[in-house]
Amino acid sequence: MNVSGRIEKIAEYIAFARIADIGTDHGYLPIFAIQSKNVEWAVAADINEQPLLCARENAEAAGAAGIEFRLGYGLEVLRPGEADTIVIAGMGGKQMADILRRGRYVATGARQLLLSPHLDVPFVRREVHALDFGIVAEDMVRDGGKYYNILDVRTSNIQEYDYSEEEYLLGRYLMNTRPPVFVEFCRHMAARYDKIAARIEGAPRLGEAGAVRLAEAVRLRDMYRRSAVNG
Ligand SMILES: C[S@@+](CC[C@H](N)C(=O)[O-])C[C@H]1O[C@@H](n2cnc3c(N)ncnc32)[C@H](O)[C@@H]1O
Repeated sequence: MNVSGRIEKIAEYIAFARIADIGTDHGYLPIFAIQSKNVEWAVAADINEQPLLCARENAEAAGAAGIEFRLGYGLEVLRPGEADTIVIAGMGGKQMADILRRGRYVATGARQLLLSPHLDVPFVRREVHALDFGIVAEDMVRDGGKYYNILDVRTSNIQEYDYSEEEYLLGRYLMNTRPPVFVEFCRHMAARYDKIAARIEGAPRLGEAGAVRLAEAVRLRDMYRRSAVNG
């Protein structure tokens, strides 16, 4: 099955043979993982019936065996330890955090969580630490003109909590390994904050609130610039 670069990149990080994809929608990730990776068994779960029907049809059409389809909220569809890797991708960070908090017992029973929020990535990094989990790797992919983060989270033997504010914003692992998409993302964000700063500066009257917004835009622009150049 041909899947997007984003789904392919997430699948690259799957470390175990028994997986669950929470919020599976079309089911592309478990289908691809069963067919192209060392995945033997998968749960494809969704809170809505329609996506689950679609996932089942896609799996049948692709001839992918070994997928169970489960309807329900977040991790409530799983028993602890049933899946070693739990994937949650393509939803906002706040929603993801809610799923992890409500299903903490199940999340802790897995060995790996692959999280790819499309919003509020720094918030997810903080939540991972608040739940006593750790980020062992992180990657970025550009797909359809958008940037996506992939957090490889482990649930035991964690030795990292001392992130700085900048590391929560950018990702410690990305800052250290500097994959090309991350550097490109930093350049993109620096240009964006440069434009925002210029717009605020160009306004007829800056005022106190404007000055605060300008300082913040300049701070973020400079942070992304530094990260794009030297890390
Ligand atoms: C935008 S799709 C993402 C699909 C796929 N994971 C991906 O990354 O391409 C989000 C899916 O998550 C499902 N969803 C939203 N909240 C959920 C929850 N609390 N539990 C399970 N599924 C949920 C939605 O029904 C939808 O099918």
